[in-house]
Amino acid sequence: MGNNDSQMARRYHRETSHSLQSLRSNTWRLDWSNRPIPYKIYSSLEPLPLPGDFTALPTPALDAIASAGQAFAGEPLRAAACTGALYHIEVYLVCGDLPGLAAGVYHFGAHDNGLRQLRAGDFRQVLVQATGNEPAIASAPAVLICTSTFWRNAWKYQARAYRHTFWDDGTILANVLAEAASVQMPVRIILGFVDETVNQLLAIDGQHEAAVNLIALGHTSKLPAEAPPVAPLHLPTERLSPREYEFPLISTMHTASSLLSGEEVAAWRGQPTRRVLPPPGEPLIPLRPLDASALPGDTVEEVIKRRGSSRQFTGEALSFEQLSTMLTRSLQGIPADCLDATGQLLSDLYLIVMAVDGLEAGTYVLHQGQQALEPLKRGDFRHAASHLALDQDLGGDAAVNIYFMADLEPILERFGNRGYRAAQLEAAIVAGKLYLAAYALHSGATGLTFFDDEVTAFFSPHAAGKSVLFLMSLGQPLKKRKE
Ligand SMILES: Cc1cc2nc3c(=O)[nH]c(=O)nc-3n(C[C@H](O)[C@H](O)[C@H](O)COP(=O)(O)O)c2cc1C
Repeated sequence: MGNNDSQMARRYHRETSHSLQSLRSNTWRLDWSNRPIPYKIYSSLEPLPLPGDFTALPTPALDAIASAGQAFAGEPLRAAACTGALYHIEVYLVCGDLPGLAAGVYHFGAHDNGLRQLRAGDFRQVLVQATGNEPAIASAPAVLICTSTFWRNAWKYQARAYRHTFWDDGTILANVLAEAASVQMPVRIILGFVDETVNQLLAIDGQHEAAVNLIALGHTSKLPAEAPPVAPLHLPTERLSPREYEFPLISTMHTASSLLSGEEVAAWRGQPTRRVLPPPGEPLIPLRPLDASALPGDTVEEVIKRRGSSRQFTGEALSFEQLSTMLTRSLQGIPADCLDATGQLLSDLYLIVMAVDGLEAGTYVLHQGQQALEPLKRGDFRHAASHLALDQDLGGDAAVNIYFMADLEPILERFGNRGYRAAQLEAAIVAGKLYLAAYALHSGATGLTFFDDEVTAFFSPHAAGKSVLFLMSLGQPLKKRKE
């Protein structure tokens, strides 16, 4: 894949855009009898149970995983939001010898909070090579790998499930970053890797299930030794559903955005092109975050456990201070191999403000560097907000809607088709942080889907040419869940 090759990303995005027309002409019907199971279950492997007590874990590498299983009772806790509650993201662990856990390649089973060993031995060197000697991978005692099993989401969302791969991975990554920060563990998200090598290590085919990102956890000065050979594995898993359908747009886009060699990866990663918004047409309104002394002191685990997507908003207002706090806390930068180290996002944030005390109702664009909002249009846009969210009341009843919108051209020029993965994932990680920030402040949040081109038209001329990557709604939830 050359970096100039980015036609497929444009095509994928265009062909999976929602419009009134595309929804009307869509003949796909949900077949509940064919609903995929929301887990990957190995039929022949015994689980190693993870300790339930988070604080007693000897290995920081497992903290993020363990946090997902703490409230295990009946249905396991799903710690992160996921489109359609279909849970198509799987997590694997590749580690050297850790206290209490032998070196190996493991799968984390969300259904029973267990690790299953797929391979015994230290395979981290495979990942060092696959990432073109990414330093954070070379020095990580443990690496998590997130994959998506596309059919598990495509059952409902068809080819748009490929966007959801990054959305639903991003909300998980936001939790992992917060957990790692809370125990002061070095962490770095890696999007540049030779897809085939990583997929082979996990014994997945890269078509039905494919690796999306790596997460380097921790730091050791002892570099991994040469890895054992990666032999093919035949590990049976439970059938997902009676029939499985293929969505060629997904596999074509995934293949077109794959990297083929360590050299290609090393040339690919790095900083995105710097960009600036046009100078504001109106005076900027600086964000006004709450004073640190006024912030609730709940731990990350407490917030993750009580998070849940708001199913209904009351229409009541957030304060400008709350909104400012959510934004500033979520926009501090993401440690990743292809994102801006200073936190400048690939997307711009466009807001429809409907009920924020201290901020006039209307539309705004965030000037991230200045931490300030530029007013675009004044007025009550509740009706439009609900329509843009695929005519869902949630969009119009929220206090504020935040649209992540990117000019894909410079991103694709810099990063080729794989830049599309990066832009989607970055937006979703920030959105995942907004989820956590909202719940940390005892208000509510939900991701929403949207009519693509109508959103762009709504925010134009300012947003002309930009694509919507994510929609996040924030507000006061009618019924606070999990509290
Ligand atoms: C990217 C994203 C988009 C979503 N879109 C919608 C939506 O359009 N409508 C909706 O009611 N919920 C939406 N949700 C919420 C999911 O349905 C919800 O996360 C899932 O049911 C799991 O519940 P939980 O978040 O409370 O754990 C979305 C969530 C995400 C992460």
